[in-house]
Amino acid sequence: HANQDDGPARQRLLVVANRLPVSAVRRGEESWTLEMSAGGLVSALLGVKEFEARWIGWAGVNVPDDAGQRSLTRALAEKRCIPVFLDEEIVHQYYNGYCNNILWPLFHYLGLPQEDRLATTRSFQSQFAAYKKANQMFADVVGKHYEEGDVVWCHDYHLMFLPKCLKEYNSNMKVGWFLHTPFPSSEIHRTLPSRSELLRSVLAADLVGFHTYDYARHFVSACTRILGLEGTPEGVEDQGRLTRVSAFPIGIDSDRFIRALEVPQVKEHIEELKERFAGRKVMLGVDRLDMIKGIPQKILAFEKFLEENPNWRDKVVLLQIAVPTRTDVPEYQKLTSQVHEIVGRINGRFGTLIAVPIHHLDRSLDFHALCALYAVTDIALVTSLRDGMNLVSYEFVACQDVKKGVLILSEFAGAAQSLGAGAILVNPWNITEVAASIGQALNMTAEEREKRHKHNFTHVTTHTAQEWAETFVSELNDTVVEAQLRTKE
Ligand code: G6P
Repeated sequence: HANQDDGPARQRLLVVANRLPVSAVRRGEESWTLEMSAGGLVSALLGVKEFEARWIGWAGVNVPDDAGQRSLTRALAEKRCIPVFLDEEIVHQYYNGYCNNILWPLFHYLGLPQEDRLATTRSFQSQFAAYKKANQMFADVVGKHYEEGDVVWCHDYHLMFLPKCLKEYNSNMKVGWFLHTPFPSSEIHRTLPSRSELLRSVLAADLVGFHTYDYARHFVSACTRILGLEGTPEGVEDQGRLTRVSAFPIGIDSDRFIRALEVPQVKEHIEELKERFAGRKVMLGVDRLDMIKGIPQKILAFEKFLEENPNWRDKVVLLQIAVPTRTDVPEYQKLTSQVHEIVGRINGRFGTLIAVPIHHLDRSLDFHALCALYAVTDIALVTSLRDGMNLVSYEFVACQDVKKGVLILSEFAGAAQSLGAGAILVNPWNITEVAASIGQALNMTAEEREKRHKHNFTHVTTHTAQEWAETFVSELNDTVVEAQLRTKE
């Protein structure tokens, strides 16, 4: 690519993910509001400046008319985003169905649909067909925008079929695939009816990445046990062709959080929150309202803590921010009612005319409000039942350099492997243990909090999203060069 006046040309990176970093809301025939999307991948990749990145993905909205599609494409182009248009039926079968009712729970060890989710299994075949069709639609858009030398980086469980489609389109394309969820034990993966087809398609990529070594190992075992291929220290080999498999733990743009705490409006908000919760320790949960996040279990552990520690009852408050997500999937609707029921019961039980123990919000907060909240928190509770990485734990740590609060972290989150030494690790299924960890956090000495915080803060500020993306992409470039050398030999 030609050099630009402002410096050397950056490599073009096509980031392909189901969801674009912005979601569109239609305001009129040709008028759109673009809003930031939620989720770890978006927050991680926004920090990446090394490449000339373009995003390809779904804008989260159904646009049946040509005029609408053209105007949205123009609006998104300003954000370097290229839309893939999915109609309602595809969204229903591919996104709500195969992705979020089958792959997502399975990869988080919640199993395939049983009992009332069984109806979904009956339509398994049509959902898988829609999944493949949707992946092909993503591939068509990539194909239209691809230029020789581009790196194509596919993300997440929605797009496991994409590497194969892309290599069929152009076998020279540099293709990476990265999974943001756990990859489960091969014993779990093998229950999936389309287990082999998905593995083979992912293996078409040049480089396959995961957040932890365990996930990478599980993937390699699935390929050896289910496909009968050979696992090597570098990855998986199939008839002389190697697919590299490795761990690349993601991070956040920590500077963005640290800088936000200096913004006058954030400082003001911090003071307001301090005043509002004066005399009480603030405990915080920030999660998408998803069953993998273990929100009911967390709240029940808090209840147990209050039950066992009457002296703390009016001295502690739990703020739970539950960001609505995938609201068309029945499992998520049920979870919302379940959480509301538990919160209502506990507030009824332990609330007074002056205060309630749990503030539960069914919405997201804007970036500055979130930073202020992280900064005033004494204890963050990240108690996912399973989680690929979990960047809320990183964001909390980045905002805690003054307060040096405590992180209670699930041992089943990928982040346990990086922040484990600084956090209190818990088994989120063990409510007694989580309740006890709240007590431990509240009683922790300042020296110990400082020591633990320092460990985590150093990690979060040195293992950033930018470094993660650069490492993955440079490894992908190297992998392709090595493969070319091998073929020449
Ligand atoms: C997780 C997934 C992402 C996804 C995000 C939000 O972080 O790994 O791929 O974008 O959740 O979920 P949604 O279904 O709203 O895109």
